[in-house]
Amino acid sequence: MSATLEVTGVSVHFGGVTAVDDAHISADAGSVTGLIGPNGAGKTTLFNVITGVQPATTGTVTLEGTDISRLPTFRRARLGMARTFQRLELFWTLSVLDNVLVAAEQAGDPTPAETAQRLLERVGVGQLAGEQAGSLPTGSARLVEVARALACEPKVLLLDEPASGLDETETRQLGVLLRSLAGEGLAVLLVEHDMSLVMEICDTVSVLDLGRVIASGTPAEVRAHPMVIEAYLGAA
Ligand SMILES: Nc1ncnc2c1ncn2[C@@H]1O[C@H](COP(=O)(O)OP(=O)(O)OP(=O)(O)O)[C@@H](O)[C@H]1O
Ligand SMILES: [Mg+2]
Repeated sequence: MSATLEVTGVSVHFGGVTAVDDAHISADAGSVTGLIGPNGAGKTTLFNVITGVQPATTGTVTLEGTDISRLPTFRRARLGMARTFQRLELFWTLSVLDNVLVAAEQAGDPTPAETAQRLLERVGVGQLAGEQAGSLPTGSARLVEVARALACEPKVLLLDEPASGLDETETRQLGVLLRSLAGEGLAVLLVEHDMSLVMEICDTVSVLDLGRVIASGTPAEVRAHPMVIEAYLGAA
């Protein structure tokens, strides 16, 4: 059986810059897949290709066996893809609750307000529902983005550095949440610089360096890979 999400031979060129270079990665239902690599390795660009924000120069993206490479972002979202952004993209003048409620409404949820509140509580920021999104510290805003992504009822959840700005307790709670989402059958794809979180919660990890996947395997396998130590972990 094919993976829930499969990226095959994707390259992205920005003029003379090769941001992603013949990348192959996959994410399975019920698993947390890590995607790590140094700054500028191409992680966010790959997320943009997967979600349809950035056209690939070459390569394909399939979701549950269907080629979605040419679909616009909103159609991919409808098919079950949701993401959070490295540079947060909340509706800053709306309340925290409304940010999530809008997504629940778009997903056709019959009780969007209740769902939004439940999801905010699930990610650990239920008490902030009435606050204006623009007033939140970064860590809380990231968790609201996770709740908003969940309101889209995704099969594949892509998270771009969700622990950035979170304190240790919040990071641990995020890890528990991501494991529990995988336990419910989601395919979670996690871009993250916090290595202890990645090594603790991921089933498999792929390492990007200069746009290429230089290693893939279990956290233990990847941690021991000489190219990974040199390209990433050694530099941390
Ligand atoms: N729109 C763009 N136009 C030109 N170059 C770009 C564009 N977006 C990204 N790049 C370049 O592509 C490369 C990969 O960038 P990307 O943001 O995907 O890396 P990243 O792995 O997410 O890095 P970070 O860990 O810092 O977030 C970098 O060299 C970056 O400067
Ligand atoms: Mg990035």
